[in-house]
Amino acid sequence: MTATVDRPVEEAPSGGKVPLVELKNVGKSYGNITALKDISLRVHAGEVTGILGDNGAGKSTLIKIIAGYHPQTDGELLVDGEPIKFTSPKDALGKGIATVYQNLAVVPLMPVWRNFFLGQEIRQTRFPWALDANAMRATTLSELSKMGIDLPDVDVPIGSLSGGQKQCVAIARAVFFGARVLILDEPTAALGVKQSGVVLKYITAAKEAGFGVVFITHNPHHAHMVGDHFVLLNRGKQKLDCTYDDITLEHLTQEMAGGDELEALSHELRGDKG
Ligand SMILES: Nc1ncnc2c1ncn2[C@@H]1O[C@H](COP(=O)(O)OP(=O)(O)OP(=O)(O)O)[C@@H](O)[C@H]1O
Ligand SMILES: [Mg+2]
Repeated sequence: MTATVDRPVEEAPSGGKVPLVELKNVGKSYGNITALKDISLRVHAGEVTGILGDNGAGKSTLIKIIAGYHPQTDGELLVDGEPIKFTSPKDALGKGIATVYQNLAVVPLMPVWRNFFLGQEIRQTRFPWALDANAMRATTLSELSKMGIDLPDVDVPIGSLSGGQKQCVAIARAVFFGARVLILDEPTAALGVKQSGVVLKYITAAKEAGFGVVFITHNPHHAHMVGDHFVLLNRGKQKLDCTYDDITLEHLTQEMAGGDELEALSHELRGDKG
């Protein structure tokens, strides 16, 4: 079975609009190690920005700058067109920038609704301010169904859901708690084809609902299915920055794989001469 995602006929136009998030010539060094150098990119509302790169390319370092974990050492970060310095992930969240990490911080044995509200529980309005389980159940159910996630029972432990469903719950949660920019750190990396399809459809739904989505992936097929704009990192440098119309899947795959290097490897493995 193949996972396909229907692309909207019209691409979201970003011309002239102020990006939600913008990086201008951003660099990051750890002591004398340069993890990122001269990165410029824009995240627009209603668009998916795919960030591709191999291991060690600098993807996580880039997310951590946008998510407020650590500041860049060079260049500028702008939110809504204004230069900003985050001192913690809380600052970034305050601006509506939420990150969903691959190893989601969930409590597997707790029900879906408890995980949805973890750390931000609804309490009853009267003493002894007990948890309002009914309100949380109902909200979880309606928030999930709003985004097309059909979970018949939010009382099941979250650990019993598939990887794709867990990712979707985590994204719905970020949306509910006020995110405008969703940073998804390799959400499909550990998933099979069908489950990846579930997450990719959900990414498209989030984009169509007007969120700015930053989708980090190793997989050019996944990036090409949902991305409007692609940035390829290679050893900390920006190798490619183009829109969906500018690049074919074949070209993106080749760029990602290192093009000529991959061809040379293929010849070597097959024992070709010359
Ligand atoms: N805290 C740190 N201290 C020193 N060097 C670091 C630190 N974090 C990352 N680096 C280095 O920065 C470079 C980029 O790392 P980063 O984790 O951003 O890559 P990545 O693209 O996320 O890779 P992966 O796909 O393996 O997750 C690597 O050379 C890494 O060793
Ligand atoms: Mg990483």
